[in-house]
Amino acid sequence: MKHKTSEMLTMLHQEHIAAHMKTLSRPEQLSMVDQVDQLDLSVLNASESEEKRGSFAPLFATTLAEIEKDRESFTKTGLQAIRDGKVGAVLLAGGQGSRLGFDHPKGMFNIGIDRELYIFECLMNNLLEVTKAAGAYIPLFIMTSAENNKETREFFEEHDYFGYSDENVWFFVQEQLPTVDVNGKLMLSDRGRISTAPNGNGGWYASMAKTGMLRIVQNAKIEWLNVFAVDNVLQRIADPCFIGAVIESGRVSGAKVVAKAAPEEKVGVLCLEDGKPSIVEYYEMTDEMLNSREPDGTLSYNYGVILNYLFRVDKLNSTLSVKLPLHRAFKKIKYMDGNGNQVTPDEPNAYKFETLVLDMVKLQDNCLAYEVDRKKEFAPVKNKTGVDSVDTAQELLRLNGVEL
Ligand code: UTP
Repeated sequence: MKHKTSEMLTMLHQEHIAAHMKTLSRPEQLSMVDQVDQLDLSVLNASESEEKRGSFAPLFATTLAEIEKDRESFTKTGLQAIRDGKVGAVLLAGGQGSRLGFDHPKGMFNIGIDRELYIFECLMNNLLEVTKAAGAYIPLFIMTSAENNKETREFFEEHDYFGYSDENVWFFVQEQLPTVDVNGKLMLSDRGRISTAPNGNGGWYASMAKTGMLRIVQNAKIEWLNVFAVDNVLQRIADPCFIGAVIESGRVSGAKVVAKAAPEEKVGVLCLEDGKPSIVEYYEMTDEMLNSREPDGTLSYNYGVILNYLFRVDKLNSTLSVKLPLHRAFKKIKYMDGNGNQVTPDEPNAYKFETLVLDMVKLQDNCLAYEVDRKKEFAPVKNKTGVDSVDTAQELLRLNGVEL
């Protein structure tokens, strides 16, 4: 083993990895040294820094009623932008879906009952509705992870891109960061590898830059990117009305939001922080903020984000050099124990490090909060059962006339 690697691991209090490496064969050692050389080990020093928050104020949304009044004009503007090739879409599909506990990319989950209906298929069906209305394809960039890229690509191939044009789909792989156990120690995923996990959904634009996707964006003269999560099966992608509303508002970004079901609902709320758009998490809100109401009775902090954003590309470029805050997430992470056994934990056991797309909102000068009806556009599949689960998503799909 390279002496330097061992020294560095010791310096970072990871002696157990240095010791483990000594038990490996020469080729295994070299491969692990190579992995260590490429890992961003600075996360090991990153203590969960309490982010100092600024001063919050409500950010009012363009409401459903207001949107309805201007629907025609917004839709026309949005469709024109799509026809002009100014809009691209980015599907964030690099997550591990550990809460769902499905051993494949989450998009491969079959949400159908009497027929097969995959999550990816739901999304592509929704996107196809827009391409039909616009008479033009929307370039779709799919972010995967080192773990799920191959399977995701193959799945799309096998299903003929669910009727979409494969020439308009690009896959790119996000980066990985090491994971640590509750004592801050690196873990092994198998004998010859240190455990890593995808670096969160905030890295999407940086990963697009790194993997050459931005060249495609630039060449195609795409001006707007609609970023969305894989797990909302009612997600409207490249929604012309939303795009048109953001363009007509003159703002540089937009976020789809839903009115909170109750003051204490556990969602991140779009608001202003020191005058900039920002998302405040429910646990960061004081009771006063949670319960504050406007003269018309609506909650002052009323609009929860659903991970569907529209960003202007030139503004995204100027944020590339900004380091997003790193969050630690306590998750179920498979690992190899000291006896060489593979362990699949039933409960969260370790931390992964993530940057989050919601932190990119703060880097925008302004953001249009665009209200959508949660019954029509928000059916996240996060858990096996209970809240935001397969059951609730199936119910909402049915409510929207989707045959299961
Ligand atoms: P979640 O925060 O729900 O994370 O992702 P997850 O990893 O999919 O699921 P859990 O928490 O382990 O159960 C929200 C969206 O961000 C994407 C996911 O694929 C999903 O679309 N994501 C998340 C990434 O693309 N990369 C990541 O590293 C994390």
